[in-house]
Order: sequence, then C-alpha cells, then structure tokens
Amino acid sequence: MGNSKYKILTVVGARPQFIKAAAISRTVKDKYADSICEDILHTGQHYDDNMSGRFFAELNIPQPRYNLGVGSGPHGRQTARMLEGIEEVLTSEHYDGVLIYGDTNSTLAGALAASKLHVPVFHVEAGLRSRNMAMPEEVNRVVADRVSSLLFAPTEAACANLQAEGFSDEIIVNSGDVMFDNALYFSDVAEISTDIMERLGLKDSEYVLATVHRDFNTDSPDRLNAILGALEQLEASGLKVVLPLHPRTRGRLGSDQHRLGTVIEPVSYLEMLRLERHAAVVLTDSGGVQKEAYFFGRPCVILRPETEWVEIVECGAGELADADEERIVSACRKMYEKAVLKPDIYGDGHAAEKILKKIYFFIQYNYKIRVI
Ligand code: UD1
Ligand code: UDP
Repeated sequence: MGNSKYKILTVVGARPQFIKAAAISRTVKDKYADSICEDILHTGQHYDDNMSGRFFAELNIPQPRYNLGVGSGPHGRQTARMLEGIEEVLTSEHYDGVLIYGDTNSTLAGALAASKLHVPVFHVEAGLRSRNMAMPEEVNRVVADRVSSLLFAPTEAACANLQAEGFSDEIIVNSGDVMFDNALYFSDVAEISTDIMERLGLKDSEYVLATVHRDFNTDSPDRLNAILGALEQLEASGLKVVLPLHPRTRGRLGSDQHRLGTVIEPVSYLEMLRLERHAAVVLTDSGGVQKEAYFFGRPCVILRPETEWVEIVECGAGELADADEERIVSACRKMYEKAVLKPDIYGDGHAAEKILKKIYFFIQYNYKIRVI
C-alpha cells in the first residue's frame, strides 16, 4: 500500500446522520489518520442551519467535500437526485468503500449508487426492523442491508434480525451503537457549555421533553391532534412540556403550535443531550431520542405503535403509546419519576473503533484477493 491511504466516502444528509458520523470521523482522526482518508458527501436532504450546518461546527465534523444540495421533495425525486449526484462522485474518484448510516433516503441512495458500481457498502445501524413496510425508513433499511458488504448492528436484537434474514455471520458485526459513544463523549461537555436549562427556566426532573417528526404522525391530522391533545392535557395538569419542533412538524402545525407552551426551534445536539438528561419523561417518535433517553436513565413514552429499539420496551424503560391521547397521558403519568434500570444494550462506548477496525481489515483483505 506504500504511503497511500484507504479512501472512504461517508454519505450523510439528515440530522441524526451527522451526529452518528461524528463518532466515526473523530475516531478516523484520532486512530486512523495515517491509514484512512474520509471524504464526506452531504446529500443536502437537511439544509437549515439548525438541522445541518450547526452539527458540523458543534461536533467538530470535517466539512463535506461534496454537497449535492438536493433539498426536500417527494421520495422518488429526492432519492433520484441523490443517486445521480453520488454516482457522479463515485465514477470520477476511486473510493475503497462507502459508509452509510441509519435509514433515511440518503442512506438508500448511498447504498444503491455504491453497490451498482461495485463499491463496498458499510452500513452503520444495520439490522433494525419495525416490520412495518409502510414506513419509508423500513424500506430504506431492508434494501440498504441487502446490498451492504459489512453490517454494523448496534444491538443483539439487530444481529438476530439479520441472522434470521439469512445474512452470513461473516458480515454481521455486533459493534455497539455510535450514538452511545457520542452520548458518553459529549454529555459532560453539554452540562458545562450550554445554558438551555437556564434560558428556559427548567429544573431537573420537572419537565417533559417531547419531539415529533414521523410522517405518519405529522401527516395525519387525527394523529397529530391526538398527540397535541395529550401534550395539552399534561400541561394543564401542571407539567411543563418542552417541544423542540422539527421543521416538518412546524409546517403541518401552523397556528396550532400556539396550543402548546414551550415550543422552540430545533436545538443543538449538546442542548438536546442536556434536555434529555434532566427530563422527567421523554415523549418521542424519534429513534435517536428514544435511545438517548435510555442512555441517561430517563423513561420514555414512544409515540408509535411499534419500535425498532425493542429492548427499551422489553426492559420497562419505554412504553408504546402510539398516537392515542389517553394512552400517552396515562403512560406519561405512570413513567413520571420512574427509575429506569439500564442493562448494557448498546455496547461499551467504543463502537466507532470496532467499526473502523473491521472496515480497515475488510479493505485490506479485499486488496489481497484482487492481487491474487
Ligand atoms: C428524515 C428521514 C427520517 C429521519 C428524519 C430525521 C427519510 C425518508 N426520512 O425525515 O427517517 O428520522 O429525517 O430528522 O429520509 N425541512 C425543512 N428544513 C430542513 C429539512 C427539512 O424545512 O432542513 C422540512 C421540509 O418541509 C421537508 C420536511 O421537513 O419537506 C421533511 O424533510 P425530509 O428530509 O423529507 O424528511 P424528514 O421528515 O426530515
Ligand atoms: N436532536 C437535536 N436537536 C433537536 C432534536 C433532536 O440535536 O432539536 C438530536 C437528538 O439528540 C438525536 C438526533 O437528533 O441525536 C435524533 O434525530 P431525529 O429525531 O431527527 O431522527 P431519528 O433519530 O428519528 O432518525
């Protein structure tokens, strides 16, 4: 290999992907600076500063080498534009592998573009399943896993899903969760470097933190109304509810957002960690927020009929309440001040190291095969 480094293209586009990618970029810089060169491609799926640029600055992620500027749109058009742009990059420059994260349209586009060009795909957060194919994310996950060369499963349940679908044990890696790496790395910094609690007048365990952004919740007036009704009931009973509003939900709510008390713009990652760590209960339909509540031992009410993060419900740290006003309110009251037991589900905080070690050997091994 001489002095040349292996080249990896990281494809990201949505808020949770910047956060996940931060753990890998940090580890490339700390441990693989001499052997791996990472270029970042931002599809442009998320583009507001508070959904995108801010995370690169706050989490010290290298600036994207490419930004496709794809923006919002229907699934087909958005994914097609990403595919076109990623293909162009992969045909004009050699990469030894493409790293993709999670289950968004940016994940799907990275997986499809790379696999069709025979560039190995490495999927971080593989094996998650809701078994609900009406979710765009479930389609994205299933397809991304199928065309990936390495499947980095964050939990044992995710590994078991992949095994049950017939993937070879050789390509499944129980890596732990890069979001847990980040929560450990950043949570103390979040305590001292943010003033969100003070600005909002919040005290430990005296408020409910809520997030809502899933299409099936925002795009169904009945479901959105039921969730809002539950938040209103909780506020009326004297609980402060803090709702950092995803732009998708803000677009659907219109003037209805004034029904709620503390509606704020999306917050930064460090601010979010601090809000989660001190919330009495977290109400959410987000995948990442469910897990972060768990990392901090905070109970969680899940605004969905099912979850991919099944262990959280199985161990009693989370409860499924769907978009049912009364179920949400009663689950929240039940969970309020509940002490959460936290079995170690998400690894040891070194997922990024495990992932890069495996990728490094994978690329080396493939080179040998090619030479032979
Ligand atoms: C996407 C992912 C979802 C993930 C979420 C994380 C897909 C299919 N969905 O959902 O899995 O959980 O990101 O947050 O990939 N918008 C803005 N500014 C932005 C970005 C979006 O105003 O910077 C608004 C636009 O009106 C847009 C809408 O939000 O139409 C939805 O954005 P989109 O990226 O399509 O899906 P998300 O709901 O964000
Ligand atoms: N997050 C954030 N600011 C917010 C809301 C969420 O930084 O206002 C972070 C949160 O801490 C978590 C991630 O965004 O790390 C979750 O992303 P999101 O809920 O958008 O998507 P999902 O995880 O459901 O795909």
